[in-house]
This record gives sequence, C-alpha cells and structure tokens, in this order.
Amino acid sequence: MDEGVRARGATDDERDATRVEASDGEVAAGGAAFSFSVGRPDVESDNADSEPESETAPEQDGSSDDAERADDPRYVAAIEDVPTNGTIRCEAFGGRRAVEFICRRDGEEAFAWRNSCPHEPDVRLDPGWGAMVRDGQIVCYEHGARFETGDGLCTYGPCRGKVLDPVGVEVRENAVYLTDERFEACRRLR
Ligand code: FES
Repeated sequence: MDEGVRARGATDDERDATRVEASDGEVAAGGAAFSFSVGRPDVESDNADSEPESETAPEQDGSSDDAERADDPRYVAAIEDVPTNGTIRCEAFGGRRAVEFICRRDGEEAFAWRNSCPHEPDVRLDPGWGAMVRDGQIVCYEHGARFETGDGLCTYGPCRGKVLDPVGVEVRENAVYLTDERFEACRRLR
C-alpha cells in the first residue's frame, strides 16, 4: 500500500484531535496513543506469493449435511441439541399464524407441544431457559402441573386430565423436523 490511510484519534468532546495520513505511525489524542500499521507483515510466509487463503473454514465431516438441513424450512434442530432434561423453544409458521412450541427429546424420539400451560394458557412452560423436567415429566413453573412426555397428559396439578397441545415432529437422520400439516416452516428461538 503506497498511499497510506487516514487515521484519526479524538477525545470524546473532540477538543483534542489528531489526523495522520500514512501507512504506519502513531496517533495520539487526549493523552492516549495507539500505533497502527497497514499492509502485509514484514515476515512473509512460505506461500506469500500464492493466492490468499480462503477465510471459509475447512469443511468438516457432515457440514454439508448440516447446511442442507438448515435450508429445510421444517428443520427444527439436530437431535443432540434437543435436551432430555429440558426443552428448546421454536416458532412454527402457518399462513399468517405463528405458534411458539417447545421440543423435548426422550431417547431417540422427540416430542413437541405448544409452549402454553392448559391451566393458564398465557403461562409458558418454557419461559426461555428450558422447561422444568422431573421424573421424565414437564413441570409447569407456575403452579406445578406435571405433564407426561408423549401425549402431554397432565397427571398432577390444577389442570389434571387436560393435555398439552401437540405439535407434530419426527426424527430423521439425527435431526428433528416439523411434520405438523398446520405449519409450513419453523425457526429456533434463542
Ligand atoms: S399455569 Fe401452569 S399449572 Fe398453573
């Protein structure tokens, strides 16, 4: 680089500012200083004359599979990312409707339900850090209702006998996909 670059150091109120135009040097303002240098490092690597290395990380085994999965609008998550002792949150889209749902793994299977307690539908079973799971059952943080994995039947609590609203998912090739016909796509919520 022959022309150098413009570098400028300034204090918060800009009463003390410095501007330089060079390919290396030092900029000082307000009692602070920093050195800069632009261009290739002095020490050249063995392949300095070859094409610059790609910034893309080398492809790992299975990474193309991951990319393909992520392109599928019904992809929920890799099965190893779905906890047995908690849940992940997702959003499913159908027409103009979006529904938040939670997904939990049980062995090699995955199950999903709307993120809503039948006792008080405005209460989320997973408020954002994972639903509580005790003895393989989801437990509502609010009043302690317990729900079986699978059919989502409430076995204890103020809504005993009611069931969670299921969302259809399936496991294929170590990944969870939305199968529920009410929805066309989904996304993971973080
Ligand atoms: S809101 Fe879930 S048990 Fe009451």
